[in-house]
Amino acid sequence: MNLPLTGKVNRSGHLEIGGCDAAELAKEFGTPLYVLDEKDIRSQCQAYKALFKSKYPNSDIVYASKALSAVGLLKVIADEGLGVDVSSGGELYTALKAGVSPGKIYFHGNNKSAHEIREGLSVSVGRFVIDNFDELENLDKLSVKMGKKAHVLIRINPGVAAHTHEAIRTGQTDSKFGISKAKVLDAVKLIKGTRNLSFEGLHAHIGSQIFDVSGYQAEIDVLAKVAKEIKEKLGVETNELNIGGGIGIAYVDGDSPLKLEDFAKAITKRVKEKVAEYKLRMPKLVLEPGRSIVGKAGVTLYTVGHIKEIAGIRKYVIIDGGMADNPRPMLYGAKYEFVAADNMKAARTEKFTVAGRFCESGDVLAKDVKLPKIRKGDLLGVLCTGAYNYSMASNYNRVPRPAMVMVNEGRAKLMVRRESYKDVTTCDIN
Ligand code: LLP
Repeated sequence: MNLPLTGKVNRSGHLEIGGCDAAELAKEFGTPLYVLDEKDIRSQCQAYKALFKSKYPNSDIVYASKALSAVGLLKVIADEGLGVDVSSGGELYTALKAGVSPGKIYFHGNNKSAHEIREGLSVSVGRFVIDNFDELENLDKLSVKMGKKAHVLIRINPGVAAHTHEAIRTGQTDSKFGISKAKVLDAVKLIKGTRNLSFEGLHAHIGSQIFDVSGYQAEIDVLAKVAKEIKEKLGVETNELNIGGGIGIAYVDGDSPLKLEDFAKAITKRVKEKVAEYKLRMPKLVLEPGRSIVGKAGVTLYTVGHIKEIAGIRKYVIIDGGMADNPRPMLYGAKYEFVAADNMKAARTEKFTVAGRFCESGDVLAKDVKLPKIRKGDLLGVLCTGAYNYSMASNYNRVPRPAMVMVNEGRAKLMVRRESYKDVTTCDIN
């Protein structure tokens, strides 16, 4: 069972996280409820930092906040000393509200609006990651108009197809993201010709939920080769290589993610080899993990409202959430592990299909999962929901989005309050 770091079964046979009993949490905060294990998140941040610093001192870990963004969470991330990657004005606003130092913010996005560029310039974010030539032109103009400097990374399309679900692959040639290898020199020349932009280095991101290091090695080879061409043809050094995120986690039995230690070893070795081979100046190495920082720390609690048995066909357990708070099974066929959070010791003797409360037949979180006998009113837990659940949640059927609590040492801190009907109608004009 892939429980969060402090997850265990307590004496009452309930799931306990951060010293808090899941049934008590459900009673106090209601369901559906996202629960986040603070110790798990802190330990992932520390592991990333320590492993990379020990193998490659000039490295930085930047948390990809699209995986989960909330002020309380980003305070913890910043407290651990990580930078924050934002991919929109909203994520930038959240990071600033959490007190993240602007210099530690990486501003991503493949179509940043003029408004968003202005927001980034006005607070002097640490890096603008430029996705295309139109953005470069806009950033140049606005930087002059505002009299602001900007430090730029060029996102390149490395032409590497990662082994993962098609919808979350980004590094293949046929992708909307990034500038093609053939045009990077033009982008560097343009930056060099501007008054306020400085070229800092290269970025690439090959995809998400990746279990195989070979895609990263191929990506590093491409980045280093491009850095060599930039040096040879333009006499410009690449000070920073940012290899993106994408490191996968185990959701269900049989998933075999990379061990962080092995990943760090393989990546830093490859960068050092390529830098030596091409006689480059040793660049800063930056990683942008999202899922692998927060994914395992999250558990969603649901209350079972109804059991529907279709004789000889299927048994449905219907929960009080579903596709609007976790769209991943519908979008990517993602698999999760389910637990009877208030009956953890019972044997899994029955097979259920877990369906949600939303008005679509496809609102099914899992088909035919083994669970103990489940009754109306029981508490169902879904493991590893910290990443890309709340951040992709919607108000489908005008259902208010769930609350989120951060648990630690027997205390539960409300990080995101449950939405109300008023929240759901707040933008409607009479
Ligand atoms: N850096 C960049 C530029 C990215 O686009 C992403 C993710 C990351 C870092 C972080 O990747 P991670 O370490 O979290 O895999 N909604 C999908 C995942 C989309 C990922 C988008 N980009 C899902 O639920 O699986």
